[in-house]
Amino acid sequence: MQTMTTFTKPFCALVIGASGTIGQSLVKALDAHPNCTQVLQLSRHTQPAIDYHDLATIQTAFDNLKEQAPFQLIINTIGVLHTQQWMPEKRLKDLNEVQLKDQFLINAIGPALTIQQFSQLIDSQGGVFATLSAKVGSIEDNRLGGWYSYRSSKAALNMLIKTAAIELKRTKPNMALVAIHPGTVKSTLSQPFRGDEIGRDPDQAANEILSVVLSLTSADTGTFKTYNGENLPW
Ligand SMILES: NC(=O)c1ccc[n+]([C@@H]2O[C@H](COP(=O)([O-])OP(=O)(O)OC[C@H]3O[C@@H](n4cnc5c(N)ncnc54)[C@H](OP(=O)(O)O)[C@@H]3O)[C@@H](O)[C@H]2O)c1
Repeated sequence: MQTMTTFTKPFCALVIGASGTIGQSLVKALDAHPNCTQVLQLSRHTQPAIDYHDLATIQTAFDNLKEQAPFQLIINTIGVLHTQQWMPEKRLKDLNEVQLKDQFLINAIGPALTIQQFSQLIDSQGGVFATLSAKVGSIEDNRLGGWYSYRSSKAALNMLIKTAAIELKRTKPNMALVAIHPGTVKSTLSQPFRGDEIGRDPDQAANEILSVVLSLTSADTGTFKTYNGENLPW
């Protein structure tokens, strides 16, 4: 049985990673949505904060926000591609423990533990929990190689989402738990890779992402979708 999530009625949203480029634009777009009654934000800069370098903050943030539940929409945008210490690996010899561990922590472990906790706050009548992944995390779609730790951490994220979706289909049958590829967007993350030239405006991207997530039904749970609603291969 499919459940339409009723975003045609008033709904409450939570953006995790609200300080990021796409996160800020999602908050703006939700604020402007006529049916969105409240949009709450979590990031390293909010109180409570959520910081994947300190995984205990997920539980603290959850404890603080659970009184405000249920949410009909949760979107997690947290992710990392480069830092001041490292850039995506071009070749096998660039692989290193520090970068692999950090990308798996921020891109896969943190988002999975966030799903573990925050999926409990999705409205049992219907809701969407979307996590931003990346097309380069698709194993089948990998034609160019490179970017070892980013690709593999997003592939791990995808598997964690798919596996959780199968389990939560039983316990939260009205929820859609999905991975979303936002496309190339002008942002801090994409800037070193010609993001400003080839990326879309973040406000446009946020509106496109929202129109996809707001049209999901429970039948879409466990899918990997692009910002224009197409299904991607895992
Ligand atoms: N932009 C693109 O072209 C593109 C393409 C494909 C996929 N994506 C995915 O889309 C998502 C959003 O990307 P974006 O372009 O908006 O990047 P961004 O502007 O760099 O934002 C990244 C977000 O992640 C947060 N973050 C990073 N490390 C964190 C940590 N240790 N703990 C908690 N939060 C942390 C940042 O928080 P601070 O503000 O505190 O740093 C920020 O809110 C990411 O998951 C990315 O992989 C983006």
